[in-house]
This record gives sequence, structure tokens and C-alpha cells, in this order.
Amino acid sequence: MKVDPQQLIDDGYIVLRQVVPHDQLKALRTSFETLVEKQKVVWARERKPEERPGGVWTTSAQPRVFFDEVVDAATANTVEFCLHENTLGVSQQLMRAPEAAITLMALMCNPVQDHGPASWHRDIDPTVQAPLKGMQMDYVKNGPGYVQWNIPLYDDNVFWLVPKSYCRPNTPEEHQHLLTRPQEPMPGGIPIELSAGDGVVYSHMGLHWGSNYSTKLRRTVHLGYRAFGSASYPIVDHFYWNLEFTKHLSTEARARFEHFSQLHTQQCDVIESTFHAIHNKDADNFRDGLAKLHPGEEERMVAVVFLSKLADKIRTLKTPEVSKLSIEERIGAISAHRLNFHLYEDFADRFSAEAAESIWQRFSTLYEKIEAEIAQSVPDRTSRVMRYQLTEMPANFEVEEFIRSW
Ligand SMILES: [Fe+2]
Repeated sequence: MKVDPQQLIDDGYIVLRQVVPHDQLKALRTSFETLVEKQKVVWARERKPEERPGGVWTTSAQPRVFFDEVVDAATANTVEFCLHENTLGVSQQLMRAPEAAITLMALMCNPVQDHGPASWHRDIDPTVQAPLKGMQMDYVKNGPGYVQWNIPLYDDNVFWLVPKSYCRPNTPEEHQHLLTRPQEPMPGGIPIELSAGDGVVYSHMGLHWGSNYSTKLRRTVHLGYRAFGSASYPIVDHFYWNLEFTKHLSTEARARFEHFSQLHTQQCDVIESTFHAIHNKDADNFRDGLAKLHPGEEERMVAVVFLSKLADKIRTLKTPEVSKLSIEERIGAISAHRLNFHLYEDFADRFSAEAAESIWQRFSTLYEKIEAEIAQSVPDRTSRVMRYQLTEMPANFEVEEFIRSW
């Protein structure tokens, strides 16, 4: 399947027909249904006392099965589909990347009771990632380092988006819409009409909407792919899986995931040495490391902001107060996800508490500049909508100014 990367940059999404090869649809439906049933058993068991019987399956507006967690040898075609030329291969083309890997494998299901529309949103938080325009200009100039997909197994028009909204901030009208009537159709928003087996690949920065979480049968595969070696550094740079499940896969499929894991480890090696260069105030090695992480010369500062957020997480994990907390509390302390936390904790093992603190200190001027911008543009940090208002990268503060700030 041939795609045009520029189409994704121009529109923020591409609809592709028959992403699921016609002769695989029936078997995939069967396997995914088996995995839904397995996950329902897990959810029923994990139900909290205050929840209705069934747990997540009966309470969630959009029950989401991370299917690698329940896959077995008989249903391995579900995971293998994520390695297909039409999914992984297309993602790699769109990211113009020498390598690409799966970050997330999920299945979005209909709820058992009508939940109606969700709220319009963007899948990013500029206050914990990077100022919105920085991430957007990085995407426009260097192309994506991360792409997201919805691939329904049954006809699906639940997903809406506002074309081209990924590469600009909210208009004042959109901002008001999000604040006052987030569950109503957005001006400029369009439904993405997908037949069974079609797919939409899109920028998760764009405004989008789960327009109706009704009881109509919905089994939509939701995937994320990140690049290794693309011009930009991926906004999503971690995996929501670990290698445990790959024991159920064929030797060939397992080898692909092992390779993804190796790519991640190699990336961690580069970040570790880049952090040590920062620690040692070694500007040349820092510039080299940064150029490996973000080969595109323009908007390289966005990757520095991402590194600052990672340095903050590592420093936090290494503090004596946090390191003695339970795993749930440690996950909360760095706002990680239960499925990717192990990657942060493993990476933190590469540094002493003193080194982590010192690396973090080198980012303090950058941190303060971003905090000042948040104070000016985000009236309420607890509001997801308000956090989209952090749009501006620090002014007159590029990589060389960052180095001078050490
Ligand atoms: Fe979303």
C-alpha cells in the first residue's frame, strides 16, 4: 500500500480503504472477540467494590482492550496484523523513517449502555509535553515521529475530526466551544466514515471526537507507531507493552518485537549519553546526541523540551521520598501509565540520585521560561482545555542559548 506522507502533513489525517486484507477480516473478528471475552473475565475479577458487576466492561463509556495482554497462540493473528505492511509499513512510510515500532495495541469497544457523545479534545497536553506550536511546527517541518490509527472491524463513523486543526492552536470559537459545549458537533468537524476493514491514520494533536458511544457493535483497532531515526523526535516515545506476551507469537513475530525493544534500548543509550554530556557541560557531545535524537535542524528545541520532561521524571523517581512509595504511587508521582512505567524506572537505574538532580538543574532556566509562559497563558492548570493555551515555545531561547544557560 502506497501513501503520500505530505497528505498527512497537509490534512492531519488520511483515510485508507481495506487496510485489513479482505481475506483476514473474518478471522480477525473471531480472534478479537475471543480476546474481548478473555478481557471481560479479567475486568470482572478486578472490579472495584463500588463498581457494577463486570467492572470496566459495564462501567466504561469505551471499554478498551490492550490485546497484547490477553493474546495467546490461537489469537496471535491480532498482533501479527499490527506488523502488516498496511499498518506498520504504511506508518513507516508516513514517518519517512528507517525504522518504526508499535507503541500501543488496543481494541475500542462499544459500551453495554448508551453513553452518548464524549468531549472534543486533542490527545496531547502541552504543559507536560511541549508548547503546542513547537510540536506542531516540528510536525509540519520535519514530519511526524508518531502516528495513530483507528481500524474498525465493523462499519464505524464514531470518530470525527477537524481537518488541519492538528497544526494550529484552537481558534477563540473552538476554545469557547470546548469550554461550554464540548459534547456538541464542532464547526469544521467531519465524521470519518469507515467501512469494516478501512483505517484512518491521523495526528493525535488534532481536534477529534468520539461522537456517540452507543451500544451499536463497535470493535475498532486502535494503534500507535513511533519512528526510530525520523527527522523529528516522537511525541510518544515509549511502548505500552513489554516482551512478556511475545512468548505466544511465532518466532518471526517475536523477533520483530525483540528488535523494537532493542531499538528502544539503543535510543535510551543515546539519551543517557546526551544527559551525561549535559551533566558534564560538554556542549559538543550534547549537540551530537541531540542531532541523533532529532536529525531535523529546525525545531530541534522541541526535543530539548521533551528531554527536560524526562529529566524531571528521572529526578523525581530518584528522590528518597518517591523511591520508597508503592508502585501505584510512583506511577502517579511521574504521571506515567501502568503499561509504560517500567521503561522509566529502568531508565532511571542508569543514573545516581546526585547525577539525576544535577542533570535536572541544567534544565532549570528552560523550565522556568516554560513555567512563566504557563502562568501567563493558562489561567487554570487543572483544565485540560486551558492547557491547550500553552502555545508558545520560549522566545529567543534556542539550543545555543540552552547550552549557555548551564
Ligand atoms: Fe483521543
